[in-house]
Amino acid sequence: MAMPLMQVRNLEIRAGGRLVQRDLNFDVQPGEVLAIVGASGCGKSTLLRHLVGLERPAAGQVQFAGQDVHHGPAQALTALHRRFGVMFQAGALWSSMSLGDNLMLPMRMFTTLDAAECARRARFKLALVGLDGGFDLMPAQLSGGMRKRAALARALALEPDLLLLDEPGSGLDPLNAARLDELVLHLRNHLGSTVVMVSHDVASVAAVADRALFLDPDALTMTALGPPDQLLHAGPEPVRRFLRRGAAA
Ligand SMILES: Nc1ncnc2c1ncn2[C@@H]1O[C@H](COP(=O)(O)OP(=O)(O)O)[C@@H](O)[C@H]1O
Ligand SMILES: [Mg+2]
Repeated sequence: MAMPLMQVRNLEIRAGGRLVQRDLNFDVQPGEVLAIVGASGCGKSTLLRHLVGLERPAAGQVQFAGQDVHHGPAQALTALHRRFGVMFQAGALWSSMSLGDNLMLPMRMFTTLDAAECARRARFKLALVGLDGGFDLMPAQLSGGMRKRAALARALALEPDLLLLDEPGSGLDPLNAARLDELVLHLRNHLGSTVVMVSHDVASVAAVADRALFLDPDALTMTALGPPDQLLHAGPEPVRRFLRRGAAA
């Protein structure tokens, strides 16, 4: 197996002093879609913020391409964090800026690309998510599904080595949620993107995840990790129950 892109070891996360999850051990393999699954409030978003270095673990460590995500010289950490493309749960775009500017702002801030090249790349990313011609639109002019896709395009702006999505389909009708799933698969299949995707949508997990990591809200640790179809048959009962809901739907 290839060298993992990310390695999570004995990770313990706390929020406001309270234990959220502990003993998390898993890898993210290059080119896979890993879903982080669990009941609301079990710590999925908090885990995501730990993976990208926004929050410090109470214990344990996260490595990306062999480098510690939380400890090291500030400059090296900043450079490392820039390799992550994150779409947060709110998925907010800057509302006072056009879609083009939303995508170009990070390029202007963090690269030396000239204006024409920034614009070219922004148009390319928008086309990738099905928003060709959306360059001059304002976020308020978009439907919910379009806004999510624009937020995904912005997460791709700096050509990240790892894409992290927090509930990308939440708040969308099933058709638009499925469209977003297809988009994630397209990125994985055609651009070789590696994706960590938080989800509590079983249909989405079954459709896109190569592997799923289950966080338990009571045990406060991971209870399963593997391909969804294997966990459906051989996972712990609560995990099978969750996955069966999707099989029945
Ligand atoms: N900054 C914080 N201070 C205190 N508690 C927090 C903070 N952030 C999250 N939590 C708590 O941590 C737990 C996990 O939250 P979260 O990661 O948002 O869960 P999920 O994304 O799985 O729904 C929740 O109980 C939440 O209330
Ligand atoms: Mg969350």
